[in-house]
Amino acid sequence: MIHGLIVGGDGQRRAATLLTRALTVIHGLIVGGDSRDWRDRPSSVRPARNGAGPPRLPRPRTGDNASAMSSSAAPSAARLRRSLLFVPGDDTRKLAKATGAGADALILDLEDAVVPAHKTGARDTVRAALADLDYGGAERLVRVNPLETGLTLEDLDVTMAGRPDGYVLPKVRCAEDVLTADRELARLEAREGRAPGSVRLILLATETPEAVLDLREIARATPRTTALMWASEDLSAAIGARRSRRPDGSLPDVFAFARSACLLAATACRLEPLDMPFLDFRDDAGLDREAREAADLGFTGKAAIHPNQVAILNRVFVPDADEVLAAQELLDAAREAFARGQAAFVHRGAMVDAPHINRARTIVERAEAARGQGRPRS
Ligand code: COA
Ligand code: MG
Repeated sequence: MIHGLIVGGDGQRRAATLLTRALTVIHGLIVGGDSRDWRDRPSSVRPARNGAGPPRLPRPRTGDNASAMSSSAAPSAARLRRSLLFVPGDDTRKLAKATGAGADALILDLEDAVVPAHKTGARDTVRAALADLDYGGAERLVRVNPLETGLTLEDLDVTMAGRPDGYVLPKVRCAEDVLTADRELARLEAREGRAPGSVRLILLATETPEAVLDLREIARATPRTTALMWASEDLSAAIGARRSRRPDGSLPDVFAFARSACLLAATACRLEPLDMPFLDFRDDAGLDREAREAADLGFTGKAAIHPNQVAILNRVFVPDADEVLAAQELLDAAREAFARGQAAFVHRGAMVDAPHINRARTIVERAEAARGQGRPRS
């Protein structure tokens, strides 16, 4: 009976249609949805969306539009954020030092790294640092104070004159918080003659319990959001936890949940998931271990608090030469298998199909993006 359905007239046609559809999907995964060779595609640094149907070309976002980028931005649409170095916004010595740290992004901080008495002055210090210092292609971000402080809009107003590439918004509580920042940024973009939506947002949206429960809505509140960064310390304070790590460094359940939720919400909304900083800045082995574990999970970068942490992060969040070679071999094999009409095939003794192909492509793209950014794996 089943045999009859498959080999019979109608059944045969249906089977042929299904096969064609399946091959089209696989073809899309390999070549990126059009007839060009995958090598011609603009590279993407998005995390792999294994087996998630259509090819994962980056969502068109005004924030990544090259013409809207400031002179400090990388020319390519693909931007790696392997290392994001926090710098206290009131410390001119560190602000100058940070420019040579080799970080993919600098976060000039107006929030927790600045005492209340310096909050107003730090805005001007950050604006001047943005305008005057040469960041050598690093992305220039400002972390403003959270909306609950009443300082945020003035932080944005003053520092936008320095033409930052984007902002980090901390202690987000709900989507309306993001929209408040979004509206103010739209107004300031018009004032500064910048393209609408070109100033990016990175959200710290695991710092309040209400945000953790509403992450997806927060993540998709505005298309200018480009990444979600996970952080535990403020969440720990908000829920009254005595500590956010066990003595062995592992995360208690509630924090592991928030971290996973951040990773899932970011990838579900095609944003970059970023890991929080490792605070023991003299423990290189500890940082290497934690960063590797984050990279293995799918985080695409990690915050740093000290220049010495940057090289480790730049290395860990880009695949090494062996991984790239293996990924390229798998893609070559996939192309040959596809040409034979085979979507699942044997490569190096194991079965390979769409998710493996997708993952291999992400590896190759990240390595290419690191080269394009002039910051290859160090
Ligand atoms: N950005 C730029 N430069 C930094 C830096 C940073 N985040 N952290 C340290 N440096 C500089 C120091 O100024 C020093 O430079 P110098 O030798 O020219 O004076 C050099 O790197 C070595 O610093 P070191 O003595 O090892 O550390 P420190 O005691 O000066 O500073 C911290 C330690 C933790 C206070 C500092 O790293 C820091 O301020 N980190 C960022 C804190 C922050 O922004 N927190 C909020 C987000 S979690
Ligand atoms: Mg904080």
